[in-house]
Amino acid sequence: MNFPLTTSSVFTQKQPAALLFAFENEHLGGPVAFKNLLRRLGPKEFRGRERQLCLLHTAGKLAPQRILLVGLGKEKEFTIETLRRAMGPAVKKLREVGIERAAVQVGGSEACGPDVCLPAIVEATMLATYRFSQFKPDEKDSTELKSLTLCLPAGVDLKLAKTNVAKAEVVAGATNFAREIDNLPGNVVTPRVLAEYARAIAKEQNLKCTVLTKKELDQGGFGGLLAVGGGSANEPHLIVLEYDGAPGGRALPVGTDRRAVRPIALVGKAITFDSGGISIKSADKMDEMKFDKCGGVAVLAIMKAIARLKLPLNVIGVVSSAENMPSANSYRPGDIVTSYKGPDKRGVTIEVLNTDAEGRIVLGDALSYARERNAAAILDFATLTGACVVALGSFAAGMMGNDDKLQAKVLAAGERTGDRVWPLPLWPEYKDKIKSDVADIKNTGGRYGGAITAGAFLAKYVGDTPWAHLDIAGTAWTTEELPYLTKGATGFGVRLTVDLLSRWETKL
Ligand code: BES
Ligand code: MN
Ligand code: ZN
Repeated sequence: MNFPLTTSSVFTQKQPAALLFAFENEHLGGPVAFKNLLRRLGPKEFRGRERQLCLLHTAGKLAPQRILLVGLGKEKEFTIETLRRAMGPAVKKLREVGIERAAVQVGGSEACGPDVCLPAIVEATMLATYRFSQFKPDEKDSTELKSLTLCLPAGVDLKLAKTNVAKAEVVAGATNFAREIDNLPGNVVTPRVLAEYARAIAKEQNLKCTVLTKKELDQGGFGGLLAVGGGSANEPHLIVLEYDGAPGGRALPVGTDRRAVRPIALVGKAITFDSGGISIKSADKMDEMKFDKCGGVAVLAIMKAIARLKLPLNVIGVVSSAENMPSANSYRPGDIVTSYKGPDKRGVTIEVLNTDAEGRIVLGDALSYARERNAAAILDFATLTGACVVALGSFAAGMMGNDDKLQAKVLAAGERTGDRVWPLPLWPEYKDKIKSDVADIKNTGGRYGGAITAGAFLAKYVGDTPWAHLDIAGTAWTTEELPYLTKGATGFGVRLTVDLLSRWETKL
């Protein structure tokens, strides 16, 4: 996809289509020929209601062959997400009509300056264009938008605009990259395949990649990941990607930590398929559990994006990957497993009451690993609980943690990017729910407050490292068409985290 930039008006563009945004009941300006076209419209044909569209043919009277009017709704209620949502149906309309080249007028109004609107338009366009078609080759060849000329108001700093467009392309590209892997089924993406993706990213972006396979996990004492992955012929993998972008990050006296700046750790759950194991799930919607790797895949995509953006930070991505299957080698209800010990004297012991509560177990090992790597802060992503979907539906991820400042930043990044999160408490009462008679903790805390007792379980592994946990069970994929996201994986977490890390202030 191409996004040429210009400071000439959209009305001068000799293109198959020109997009024009309009608020509800907004009086649109433009050349006389355009006003004449508008005058022909019936009173209800286009009023600028949210996501309302109207396609006008210009019949040679204007440079663009068509004008697509795109409604934004009430100006007072406008947010940047309104613009993204308006862009979705517009892109779909262009596809239906078979248009591959178009132009769009950006940021004419006060509510939407080009610095904020430009990235939103680029992002929404790329996200709305994505489809999972590699197993449907017939659909692959259908027309798709290839070029969208961005027409900016005169006087805009084009160089800055260009950088902003490039950044948005990186973020949306990484989001779509995550969606493509997420959408692949369990017979295609196994833990080993995920490790290969990580290696490919490392090679392309010059990152360090470490993969622990079964043997190394055994030697290292990663009891949680080994237990969960035990039932599958596709062996578990711990995948680590490291990006050293902090200035002077490698220049430290021998004997101290390799890095001058402690890394931010991103930890992800990547169950390539979650059957539930011995505590097997019902058949209904079990296919959706191919998406149980979305947290880990988001981490890989974020690492790719921040490396491309050359953010001045050190970041370590830790992905705990296994397939949860029932077999003669599966872990069982009643088993007691010992987590990776990390920097602690001994590993946390877990009484397994339900093999379907596997995510928290594989994350325990990964969180300890991140802490051992001297993480300055930890952010984890996991399709962890159905209970979180019950609590928040599909419009926000559940957020828990131990650091109000960090959580406030995550919340704000969510608002800006549309990857919304909402806080849930981690009061001591919830922690009591996972006390076990025979081990340090048990892996279920009962039906009520299930998202929070899962969070309380994770809290056992982070010590006092600032940490935020995102339960993305409701947001990682969608079973309904959304304004700018098709059915399937959403890439949730990528846009949020790249925004968060772009604004990160490192204390030296
Ligand atoms: N991957 C699931 C959570 C999930 C379920 C995400 C449905 C999205 C939709 C997780 O591993 C799981 O099975 N959790 C159990 C925990 C329970 C056994 C304590 C759940 O939520 O039912
Ligand atoms: Mn499960
Ligand atoms: Zn799961």
